[in-house]
Amino acid sequence: MLRLYSILAALVAIASAVTAMTAASELNYALPESFPKVLLQSDCYMPLNFSVFGLELWFPAPNNPNNFTGSFVYMDMGTNITTNCQRNATSPNVGGEGHAERWGCDVPFVQFIWQNGTLTIIEKACPFTGTASTFEASGSVEPVFNCTATAAPQWPSGDGSYCQAIDGQINGNFTSLQPAPPAKFVDMEVS
Ligand SMILES: *[C@@H]1O[C@H](CO)[C@@H](O)[C@H](O)[C@H]1NC(C)=O
Ligand SMILES: *[C@@H]1O[C@H](CO)[C@@H](O)[C@H](O)[C@H]1NC(C)=O
Ligand SMILES: *[C@@H]1O[C@H](CO)[C@@H](O)[C@H](O)[C@H]1NC(C)=O
Ligand SMILES: *[C@@H]1O[C@H](CO)[C@@H](O)[C@H](O)[C@H]1NC(C)=O
Ligand SMILES: *[C@@H]1O[C@H](CO)[C@@H](O)[C@H](O)[C@H]1NC(C)=O
Ligand SMILES: *[C@@H]1O[C@H](CO)[C@@H](O)[C@H](O)[C@H]1NC(C)=O
Ligand SMILES: *[C@@H]1O[C@H](CO)[C@@H](O)[C@H](O)[C@H]1NC(C)=O
Repeated sequence: MLRLYSILAALVAIASAVTAMTAASELNYALPESFPKVLLQSDCYMPLNFSVFGLELWFPAPNNPNNFTGSFVYMDMGTNITTNCQRNATSPNVGGEGHAERWGCDVPFVQFIWQNGTLTIIEKACPFTGTASTFEASGSVEPVFNCTATAAPQWPSGDGSYCQAIDGQINGNFTSLQPAPPAKFVDMEVS
């Protein structure tokens, strides 16, 4: 069921390929010199802002070797992308050698980084244009959490804290647009 939902979500995202220009004045970042001019003349909608819903994370206690886990629903109402995002015990790091660990969302245009209290969202810019665009927008939020302690056997991954964002909806702006590091989006499974 989850898998079917993922496929549907990906199809919906692709089906909404009818795009419209974002007003450049609204963007909270400057376009890099190297950004293809052809994309600006196309109907490419530049990522502007996003919302994160139902963010929950689990953090291992210092003596617990398990990795943090987490999930949320991601929405960009400008590019019409809605997707589930999660990092679990078997999630592959899609960040690539020498880069911060990144976790993929079901719609492969979206990835996230959790680091030191900050959730960074990365969304591929103009993913529907059919060009070899490899630019990605990023923006961060610093959620406030409500946490409770966990322990085995009730919590299979053991000692730690389970934290829910106090705000059910967290809004963020994209504040940067950069060329994606090489091979960033190629080896992802569209599950
Ligand atoms: C997103 O969807 C709305 C309503 O369905 C539509 O008006 C808009 O053009 C779409 N935007 C993009 C970038 O596809
Ligand atoms: C995104 O920006 C638009 C235009 O300024 C605004 O109407 C909308 O509320 C913003 N959405 C979020 C999630 O911040
Ligand atoms: C934690 O994550 C790293 C990298 O993502 C992985 O190599 C390691 O095996 C994971 N550890 C556990 C206990 O799952
Ligand atoms: C774990 O997360 C990945 C995405 O990183 C997802 O494809 C997979 O279905 C998840 N596994 C479980 C058991 O939820
Ligand atoms: C983590 O965030 C805290 C508070 O914002 C800061 O003082 C600290 O330097 C950060 N640590 C790293 C490794 O970024
Ligand atoms: C934190 O979680 C507890 C237990 O679920 C709940 O009773 C409490 O109202 C929550 N507090 C906030 C500020 O969300
Ligand atoms: C996003 O940027 C707009 C305009 O620059 C600003 O008014 C708004 O407060 C920002 N939103 C967030 C969540 O930072």
